Amino acid sequence: MQMPDGLPAEIDLSRPSAARVYDYFLGGAHNFEIDRQLAEQIAGMTPNLAATMRAGREFLRRAVRTLLDAGIDQFLDIGSGIPTVGNVHEVAQTANPKARVVYVDIDPVAVAHSRELLAGDELTGVIHGDLREPERILAAARDLGLLDFSRPLGILLAGVVHFVRDTDRPGEILATLRAAAAPGSHLVVSHSTFEDQPQEMLDAQRLSARTDTEITLRSRAEVTSFFGDWTLLEPGVVHMPLWRPDSPSDVDEHPERFGAFGGVARYDQPTA
Ligand SMILES: C[S@@+](CC[C@H](N)C(=O)[O-])C[C@H]1O[C@@H](n2cnc3c(N)ncnc32)[C@H](O)[C@@H]1O
Repeated sequence: MQMPDGLPAEIDLSRPSAARVYDYFLGGAHNFEIDRQLAEQIAGMTPNLAATMRAGREFLRRAVRTLLDAGIDQFLDIGSGIPTVGNVHEVAQTANPKARVVYVDIDPVAVAHSRELLAGDELTGVIHGDLREPERILAAARDLGLLDFSRPLGILLAGVVHFVRDTDRPGEILATLRAAAAPGSHLVVSHSTFEDQPQEMLDAQRLSARTDTEITLRSRAEVTSFFGDWTLLEPGVVHMPLWRPDSPSDVDEHPERFGAFGGVARYDQPTA
């Protein structure tokens, strides 16, 4: 197949990619016919899905602002996706022009576009990495030299842990990432769930098996466990729109219909 200009040759354009399907839902331009077909099929089953993805992005923006208010000025964003409007570094650097962001994604298209977009920005970096190999991500992030792991860090896992199957031990992956962080660090997680969901949403999630990255829906208790012994910020692990909305009127009458939980926790200095 002919490769569109500027894209790495290893990209498989015969299969839809989760990052490009997501980009399409968010109104981005970095997707192909195969991605749009799957996106339309999913959207036909759950008209609410594009709104769900935007709600995920909004949750991430509110969480990053909360971290900035807590003094966090460096972020490791794993499963960062294709750069679309309101990227983490834009949100962060608007509040703190010196904020540093390292983006990590498994999808070569997302990585290629991120590198293109961020070329020349010395405060951001991009890693082609797999969340299932957290040690490699941490080593690559250290090599980049942008993040100082002896200082508080914001670890962002927005809409990505549900791509890790139980057999790949997500609990251990999260523990490895938490162990690399200094006291004062914060962890942000949003994650799809089966709790309170109608059947059509569950059916649409099953279609994700057609992309390279299948989704595992998890309970609130499982999502909460990913924060380990870190201190959950109020209001805890809740349906995403309920996590510190900008205004009460922003909260949908049925916040559960967005199908995902979100939460933020802080690593408090252990007492001797
Ligand atoms: C739903 S998008 C979320 C994008 C962004 N974090 C946000 O919330 O707007 C999920 C992203 O996770 C990436 N991804 C899936 N599995 C991954 C893995 N094992 N390691 C790293 N990234 C992964 C996909 O390529 C995709 O870009």
